[in-house]
Amino acid sequence: MANSSSPIGVFDSGIGGTSIWKEIQKLLPNEDSIYLSDSKNAPYGSKGKERIIELAIKNTEFLLNQNCKLIVVACNTATTNAISYLRQTYDVPFIGIEPAIKPASIKTKTKVVGILATKGTLNSELFAKTSSTLNDDIIIKEQVGTGLVELIENGQIRSPEMTKLLESYIHPLLAQNADCLVLGCTHYPYLIPQIRNIVGDNFPIIDSGEAVARQTKNILDKHSILSTSTKKGVHRFYINTKKEILNRFIPETESMTVKELDF
Ligand code: DGL
Repeated sequence: MANSSSPIGVFDSGIGGTSIWKEIQKLLPNEDSIYLSDSKNAPYGSKGKERIIELAIKNTEFLLNQNCKLIVVACNTATTNAISYLRQTYDVPFIGIEPAIKPASIKTKTKVVGILATKGTLNSELFAKTSSTLNDDIIIKEQVGTGLVELIENGQIRSPEMTKLLESYIHPLLAQNADCLVLGCTHYPYLIPQIRNIVGDNFPIIDSGEAVARQTKNILDKHSILSTSTKKGVHRFYINTKKEILNRFIPETESMTVKELDF
């Protein structure tokens, strides 16, 4: 049975969820964790709902077999397509991540919010539902980030291809008067320096990482399963392709190990 000393489980289609894992680790440094990078099946964003649910089940069961006490679905695409299924099916608490269009709708002055996300997220019912709760005067300009996840997974963050793709996605949003940009995919926070080169230093770029970490803490607290340890947490990372991909974002130390596994 999982209890307060059990690890937190985190999964994503690849390395993107490490941006969320880092926020959780900052807020809850004494928690142990297990991170699953399903890089073999990335990108999830171009897959259909049923396939995304299948993959989310596989990842969840892997983490439950490791006795995780709570699961963070550190992927907008998996959250928006699969989290209601996961919550109905498993007893463990789930934390999801959704594009932060609500905070952006409060921040925008032009009333035009740009969002960069995967096709799977933008086409999901959950995203449509959240969008429908915004004030009527808010316009959401959606842009699918085709190809961005693949370049990040391939280690091409600082490549001319990345610059070209980002410019082709962001310039039209700016031309349509968007005055803030929501990052609706957990891979994209790693692109912030490149995005800054396009939008400038003062343009709001909004992601949900900190909010997810706070929510993780609240839910652990609510279920009385916050770790009581005073020691730094131990973290195990698993990837079903090459560990070098994760090592670009997660350096290995005594308390952080990265392993290749077939799952
Ligand atoms: N990092 C994921 C997300 O937040 C998935 C990207 C993908 O695999 O397409 O949407």
